[in-house]
Amino acid sequence: MSGMVSLHMSSWSGPFDPDLRKQANADLEAGRVLFLPELNFALSASELDSVRAATQEAHDGDGGKSVSYDPTTGRHKAGPLSEALAERLVEPMARFTEAATSLVVGLFPGYAAGLNAGRTSFRPVEIEGRSLSWRKDDRRLHVDAFPSRPMGGKRILRVFSNVDPDAQPRRWRLGEPFEAHAQRFLSRLPRPSRSQAWMLSRFGLTHGVQTSYDQLMLGLHDAAKRDAAYQAAEAQVQDFPAGTSWIVYTDQMPHAALAGRCAFEQTFYVRPEVMADPDSAPLAILERLTGRALV
Ligand SMILES: [Fe+2]
Repeated sequence: MSGMVSLHMSSWSGPFDPDLRKQANADLEAGRVLFLPELNFALSASELDSVRAATQEAHDGDGGKSVSYDPTTGRHKAGPLSEALAERLVEPMARFTEAATSLVVGLFPGYAAGLNAGRTSFRPVEIEGRSLSWRKDDRRLHVDAFPSRPMGGKRILRVFSNVDPDAQPRRWRLGEPFEAHAQRFLSRLPRPSRSQAWMLSRFGLTHGVQTSYDQLMLGLHDAAKRDAAYQAAEAQVQDFPAGTSWIVYTDQMPHAALAGRCAFEQTFYVRPEVMADPDSAPLAILERLTGRALV
């Protein structure tokens, strides 16, 4: 199975062709990356200047790799940038939230009832050459799981656009289908622990209590990143040129970001009940593989 399919469309809002929507939904829920080679997120000349300035100013310090914007509160975090420059990027990030929401709801109307927008982020830091601990190193194949934000089975859907003003591509590696990925690592994962989940929540280290699902997903994330042989094996390499966009369930498709900068990214949380095929969700697959309820 190729990990990616191309979708030829150049508008962020529908109505979209019903056959295109149906196929896109099936491919997305099968874990594939939907690559939109003609879908550009347009920036004004002054916004491009801000983006370029961000690539020059961004430093790999304690602030993290991204400027982020919370569409529910309107607040932002400057991350690796000065406050003045981060403020200039809030407007295009807010517009990206709107565009990504319109795209997702237009392509997957059934999701509207169970969709929440999380943070928008802009990553001006070049990935190549960063030095990071293995757990934080997103150049290693992994499925997404958040240590401090339990999902309880909700999906992590992400929309990306490469807006690099100097036309650098974003380069990813793509891994195997989720079920094979889970089977590869499941026997090595620590057993889910309710007492540990309770402790983490009690001490404010998680926003809410981790479910067994969250603990298995974090275990998968860590097991894959820690496995040098798995990381060294061959995997599909995919470039996302500047001016293109892509959509993927990053909790399902093992991915690694090898190079590039200047991606806008919008995270959505999707309740599995609104999926066309909830049985394809990591929750259903892990429950089947372990033979137990995980949330
Ligand atoms: Fe990731």
